[in-house]
Amino acid sequence: MFQDPKRYQAKHHYVTAAGADLVEILAAQVGERVLDLGCGTGQLSAQIAAAGAEVVGIDLSAEMIEAAREQFLGLSFAVGDARDFSFTEPFDAVFSNATLHWVKPPEEALACIAACLGQGGRFVAELGGARNVATISRALIDQLADRGLHPQSPWYFPRLGEYTRLVEQAGLRVAYASHFPRPTLLEGESGLRDWMEMFAKTLTKGVSPSMLEELWKAVENAVRPALYGDGGWHADYWRLRVVAYKE
Ligand code: BEZ
Repeated sequence: MFQDPKRYQAKHHYVTAAGADLVEILAAQVGERVLDLGCGTGQLSAQIAAAGAEVVGIDLSAEMIEAAREQFLGLSFAVGDARDFSFTEPFDAVFSNATLHWVKPPEEALACIAACLGQGGRFVAELGGARNVATISRALIDQLADRGLHPQSPWYFPRLGEYTRLVEQAGLRVAYASHFPRPTLLEGESGLRDWMEMFAKTLTKGVSPSMLEELWKAVENAVRPALYGDGGWHADYWRLRVVAYKE
């Protein structure tokens, strides 16, 4: 998914910062086995390990896993697909921050998550929910359509009811769920463009490099009234949080 760990860490560290309170919700205990699903460069895996848990991080991107291994020598990381993974030893918890909105179909990821939890194990996750980055993606899709391009959205931003139903269908009992806005400051004047260059690449695959510059400007102009203010660009993030148990 992401192939540029340095850029990800330099310009998008708010993803990890926002995940810190999900680590608090996880409240890992000494000796617990925790899977960090979509661990990226491993910052949150390290925070979980600092509580005394044994953490395994998996991510689809080999580049991210390489960066995680370089930074956090004592931790265990592996390349893995959220739709197709299994472990022989069960986990006490599966933790996932800002990953599952990239994973379609969601049922496949939830089946793997449920299968790798031991009895009483918990699933603690945050992903983009309904309305997430709607202003940005609407403008991108409109501008691409004006240029004759009609890409599929790479994202899955479910409503709370839809996602909790899928979690329950996977065999987990939902104990907590919340859907809430989190307007997110994107650093610097180029913040929105940096975000699009990092995260919207799959939408702009058919766009030539010379057209890209003009596309970014058109999107910036379209969303400026809604998303620029108070000293910068703010992405219109909406989060979905879930805590569920395997009984
Ligand atoms: C998110 O964390 O909500 C997100 C990140 C990149 C693209 C789309 C959504």
